[in-house]
Amino acid sequence: MCDPRTTAPKGLFRRVVSTVAVGVLALLASMPVIDAFVRPSLITLGKSHITSSPSSSSSTQVGLMNFLNNGKKALVKSLAGEYDATAIQTRINGLIDDNPVLMFSFTTCPFCIKAKQVLDDLEAKYTVIELDTDPDGKSIRAEMADFVGRTSVPAIWIAGQFVGGCNDGPMGGLVKLNDSGKLDGMLREVGAL
Ligand SMILES: *[C@@H]1O[C@H](CO)[C@@H](O)[C@H](O)[C@H]1NC(C)=O
Repeated sequence: MCDPRTTAPKGLFRRVVSTVAVGVLALLASMPVIDAFVRPSLITLGKSHITSSPSSSSSTQVGLMNFLNNGKKALVKSLAGEYDATAIQTRINGLIDDNPVLMFSFTTCPFCIKAKQVLDDLEAKYTVIELDTDPDGKSIRAEMADFVGRTSVPAIWIAGQFVGGCNDGPMGGLVKLNDSGKLDGMLREVGAL
């Protein structure tokens, strides 16, 4: 099980807040699709200062991705305005606990549509919270920055475990899990199939 609150990297983004170019970030924040390019693997590499990696990203790329992602998290937080963080965290935890398959999504995001298609093709039962129409959507996205270290959608949990997005994240994302044949078993195990 993953308790995102304990694994979330905190504070790093605060250090770069003052240096971000808000115009660029506003554009990024308004385009959830861009999130797919801010790869968590690069973020991890940046944090642990590992210079060689299988994906052979240069440290400059890592630094830039880190910069953009951290700035983006800060911007998502600021866009959310004032909200009751404890209440939002309680709601997120409740959703993760109560739903064997949970997806935070945007109604129009292509990667979200693709992720839903993977589940629909398997005729899986799943719960979607559309963050662009949910009244708590902005706050949930802001809290996700601390919960899972990213704000991108789709964000998918299976049996309480964060599996990533459509084709990224800690378990490679839904498409990869499906292609490797693992998804079917995972969904059966939680009774979603
Ligand atoms: C899921 O995997 C199956 C089997 O590998 C494949 O036939 C199917 O096209 C995949 N679904 C999607 C939406 O990619």
